[in-house]
Amino acid sequence: MAEPSIRRRVLVTGASSGIGEAFARQYATQGCDVVLVARNSEQLERVAADVRRTGAKAEIIVADLSSRDGVEIVGERCGNVDVLVANAGVTHAAAVGTTNRDTLDRIAYLMSAGVVRLCEIIVPRMLERGGGDVVIVSSIASFTPMRKAGPYAAAKSHATAYARSLAMEVGHKGVRVVAVCPGYVRTELHGRAGLDHLARKVPSWMWLTSEQVVHATMRALRRGKTVLVPGAVYRIVLPFLSSSLAQGAWRRLTRRS
Ligand SMILES: NC(=O)c1ccc[n+]([C@@H]2O[C@H](COP(=O)([O-])OP(=O)(O)OC[C@H]3O[C@@H](n4cnc5c(N)ncnc54)[C@H](OP(=O)(O)O)[C@@H]3O)[C@@H](O)[C@H]2O)c1
Repeated sequence: MAEPSIRRRVLVTGASSGIGEAFARQYATQGCDVVLVARNSEQLERVAADVRRTGAKAEIIVADLSSRDGVEIVGERCGNVDVLVANAGVTHAAAVGTTNRDTLDRIAYLMSAGVVRLCEIIVPRMLERGGGDVVIVSSIASFTPMRKAGPYAAAKSHATAYARSLAMEVGHKGVRVVAVCPGYVRTELHGRAGLDHLARKVPSWMWLTSEQVVHATMRALRRGKTVLVPGAVYRIVLPFLSSSLAQGAWRRLTRRS
């Protein structure tokens, strides 16, 4: 009699839209079961229903990952997972001194300290079971200053730095780690932050789709890359992004008019 196949379980945070939703769909089509995390239960149910049509199991955990309790709940409820996609995030643009303390704390926890905590809960379980994959969705903001987005850039730099160290620590023990650092991706991120003008002003060749990010990530995992900047355009401009010329051009390009 054939052995029952063991399906991999994939935990995706921020799975209710955008890049996280694309990861959930991709892993489901690869024959994995998924655990979907976000705050919006209706959106999670929508994604879960679509995923189940592929034959995959889809569980949902409604949690606010900008709070310590939210991350602990996910760690308790998710059980053993073979893949962690730590993707949940927001973007935030505001002049220095104009963001209240609570918002600053939540941005930092959601995209840096909370990501670290989730990995600290889940990676030891992966090590005990002999392996796993960790995908940390960071940003190109890890590598370049971002005017009026210091807290975002700082959180993403932290997440990327953690991923690089984690990869060094656990890579030879069967846990592959990649920090994914995209530029502009067409999702709900900017609209939610009141930055709709970017969709009009940033040229179309600078935008990736969520699916492009996901496929580049799968390739990076296969190749053992630790830091991925998806999109050839971004890889070419990366060394020059911090120059005053590039920063000036970027500022003019993305200014509200
Ligand atoms: N789009 C880009 O241009 C771009 C570029 C670089 C990096 N990224 C990164 O990519 C990741 C995914 O963003 P996206 O572009 O796919 O944007 P998105 O469509 O707005 O998706 C963000 C996801 O994160 C979840 N989320 C936000 N705050 C949360 C919280 N407090 N607790 C739990 N879940 C939360 C959202 O769900 P709920 O609202 O239902 O909670 C949603 O599922 C983010 O980390 C972002 O920084 C995006």
